[in-house]
Amino acid sequence: MTQIYQASCTAPVNIATLKYWGKRDTKLNLPTNSSISVTLSQDDLRTLTTASCSSSFEQDTLYLNGEPHPIDTPRTLACLADLRSLRAALESKDDKLPKLSTFKLRIVSENNFPTAAGLASSAAGFAALISAIAKLYELPQNSSELSMIARKGSGSACRSLFGGYVAWEMGELEDGSDSKAVEVAPVNHWPEMQALICVVCDVKKDVSSTSGMQLTVATSDLFQERIKNVVPKRFIEMKKSIVDKDFAKFAELTIKDSNSFHSCCLDSYPPIFYMNDTSKKIIKLVNLLNEAAGKIIAAYTFDAGPNAVIYYLKENENQVLGLFNKVFGHLEGWEKAESLKSKFEILEK
Ligand code: PMV
Repeated sequence: MTQIYQASCTAPVNIATLKYWGKRDTKLNLPTNSSISVTLSQDDLRTLTTASCSSSFEQDTLYLNGEPHPIDTPRTLACLADLRSLRAALESKDDKLPKLSTFKLRIVSENNFPTAAGLASSAAGFAALISAIAKLYELPQNSSELSMIARKGSGSACRSLFGGYVAWEMGELEDGSDSKAVEVAPVNHWPEMQALICVVCDVKKDVSSTSGMQLTVATSDLFQERIKNVVPKRFIEMKKSIVDKDFAKFAELTIKDSNSFHSCCLDSYPPIFYMNDTSKKIIKLVNLLNEAAGKIIAAYTFDAGPNAVIYYLKENENQVLGLFNKVFGHLEGWEKAESLKSKFEILEK
């Protein structure tokens, strides 16, 4: 019987608090600005991937949540080629190593959250895929080095190679060898930080992030201001606010950056709208909360869709969840949540 080699890994979903929006190289997924994210708890949202390979497998295959999925997209192929060449380099130095780089791969991936929910599933997906194959191939590369491979799959995936608070340094080099994720702080640095995920709408977005970014880069004047004069300063300030555990500063920068990113979308020609009326209601609620508290106790951020992530500290949980419950508590998904402490709620279907 031929031997099957196998390894499994999980990767968490990450939500950017300083947004990546714009590519300077679409093939290598090199960004026009550095970004920062907070990785969500693996208990809530994560992808589990098992990679196996054997000389008896006839082709590379990929299963996502039990369904066969194409593996021959340029981005997935780029990731597999990089991983195989790193393994081949190891094999060329040690004759005793099995020639896994020449075997076909079978990849099985599962999300512990609804894939269709419009959350950043591709980030966790590519990060888990790269980590599982790197483990299978026993590659010595560290998380930052592997993040450069994940980046080619989906830009934001590079940040899911780490837990906690993560920066993606845009880099300057044309070959992308300095465009990588690095840890700002581990999750236990700031355990009081909580995230409420508001799934406003779970239908697929009508403008993909890749085409949205290209339109913004090509047509928005505001975007030029954002990448030259706004984000570089914000990148330094947000990292400092995390290291200092300064929630008010972190929240202010997070809110401003979400606003700036969506303004650039609106400034694209033709304009792109990702937020809807429920999203705007959520923004008003967060503003109300902060006004009533007399300080910033909650921050919202929206990606390329209407869903919101609300960051707050544990000490303010009752205030934050209390108000959200009052406004959205009558909705089906909220009632179904096990308790108000649940971090995953469906607000609108
Ligand atoms: O990695 P992509 O191509 O799915 O783009 C992600 C873009 C945003 O989610 C809007 C921002 C970010 O930094 O994650």
